[in-house]
Amino acid sequence: MSELSHNLMGNSPEISAKAFSNIQTLIYKIAGINLTTAKKSLVVGRLSKRLRKLKLPSFEAYYDLLISNQEGVGQEVQLFVDLLTTNETYFFREQLHFDFLVDKVIPLFKDAGPNSAPLSVWSAASSSGEEGYTLCMLLAEHLGIDNGWRILGSDISATILADAKAAIYNEQRVRLVPASYRHKYLLKGTGSQKGYVAVVPELKRHIKFDSFNLVEGPVRKELFDVIFCRNVMIYFDHDTKNKVINRLIKCLKPGGYLISGRSESLHSLTHDLTTVVPSIYQKKG
Ligand SMILES: C[S@@+](CC[C@H](N)C(=O)[O-])C[C@H]1O[C@@H](n2cnc3c(N)ncnc32)[C@H](O)[C@@H]1O
Repeated sequence: MSELSHNLMGNSPEISAKAFSNIQTLIYKIAGINLTTAKKSLVVGRLSKRLRKLKLPSFEAYYDLLISNQEGVGQEVQLFVDLLTTNETYFFREQLHFDFLVDKVIPLFKDAGPNSAPLSVWSAASSSGEEGYTLCMLLAEHLGIDNGWRILGSDISATILADAKAAIYNEQRVRLVPASYRHKYLLKGTGSQKGYVAVVPELKRHIKFDSFNLVEGPVRKELFDVIFCRNVMIYFDHDTKNKVINRLIKCLKPGGYLISGRSESLHSLTHDLTTVVPSIYQKKG
């Protein structure tokens, strides 16, 4: 049976060493993602559906398409990136960071005068928005819903950003949201929406979602008081982490905080941050 007939029947085709290596290089170049050989079956699993959809006989043919100048190929490249990113996230993930925000950062903005800049936070690998909306809930609770605080959520994946903007989640994703917050900030779905919740519009108006590649392109112009960049650096190698951290530092106000995932150490990277506690860092100044 040919590879094509395998594809049409829904079976995953084999990936040659050369095709895997080309895909490794391409995703590294675009997104900084370091796919080890251990990820081969994951790559096959995630990309096979594109081969089937496009009726392509092999991963070589898919790769050739991705690097071609054919019209509309940019959209396929975006899908390729979307499929190879891991978007696992949930509300109130890694509580330690939110406690730090509430105990150490928010108080600095509570009694600020009318001329001081409101708190700004960037969720720099936002995935489907759970981290950003968790921040919204905490700032609404502790600074007030009418205070001018603002959140930016960004991600490289267009598909996941569309989910973030929609702000509709299944119950599993909100399991750690305190009951009192659920009542105030989440609307329970009924009928065909049963089992889902939606974020209230009053919170949504404080957050903006935008596409941003941590690795490439110009850094953002605005400066933030706090940047969350959590559970994405695990996919990067040492050089990429260094690059990403130093790009993010440029977007932090002096004295601002950078927060990484608990399992992501900035140890051994070259940067100008002071460690507050592991995974929470402060820019000097
Ligand atoms: C596992 S999620 C982390 C979500 C959230 N920060 C958390 O801790 O729960 C990782 C996210 O990083 C995004 N990502 C991967 N490479 C990226 C890049 N080069 N630039 C921006 N986002 C990237 C992925 O699309 C994915 O949504």
